[in-house]
Amino acid sequence: MKREIRITPSILNADLNNLDTEIAKIANVSDLIHLDVMDNLFVPNFTFDFESATSIIKNCPIDVDAHLMVAEVDSIAPMYAQAGCASVTIHAEATKEIANTLRSIRNEGARAGLAIKPNTAIEEYEQFSDLVDMFLIMTVEPGFGGQKFMANMMDKVRTTRSFIGDRPIWLQVDGGISLETIEMAMEAGADTFVAGSAVFKAQDPAAMVTSLRQLAMGVAN
Ligand code: DX5
Ligand code: ZN
Repeated sequence: MKREIRITPSILNADLNNLDTEIAKIANVSDLIHLDVMDNLFVPNFTFDFESATSIIKNCPIDVDAHLMVAEVDSIAPMYAQAGCASVTIHAEATKEIANTLRSIRNEGARAGLAIKPNTAIEEYEQFSDLVDMFLIMTVEPGFGGQKFMANMMDKVRTTRSFIGDRPIWLQVDGGISLETIEMAMEAGADTFVAGSAVFKAQDPAAMVTSLRQLAMGVAN
């Protein structure tokens, strides 16, 4: 089966004072914009409150993929779906009502994503596959951009790919994706790639998105 590939640049390390310009640089060549929401509780960093996130979502010219690294995710996730995100991802470590929250994201019309941190095993979450539109395997400890890709997460990506099988569930990797690492993640079975610093620290962010896509497609074909 030919795998569809998606590149989802993270704006975490973009110039947040000129976000419209930053997003405009890559919108035409990207599949979704990855929005990292951090509350300084679930992770030791803060990015956006709901109000500023909503304004980014409303102004974004392409679909938004929200990655919620927040403690109170069960109440917050449906709000992000309502605000117009195409995809809303919750962390397995943060939710107390995993099935309900995944369902409520879908009920609000968004795709439901389930993320796990590097020290969390994927096996016990296979049972939620019917409620999940995307699994996110973190390839860094969540909290900050610019960290080193954890190649030892590739076994987890392979396990997830094997239980997804032919189902149309996306498999995302997030953290340290670059020209050096994207092929490894692709070979392991990922199809949806977050890239933050690799894209926004590049001279030409759009060209970088295209290069990343071409590399991943080289593995696919
Ligand atoms: C980390 C975030 C990532 C991060 C990716 O907690 O979830 O999305 O911004 O940035 P890079 O690609 O620089 O690792
Ligand atoms: Zn992220």
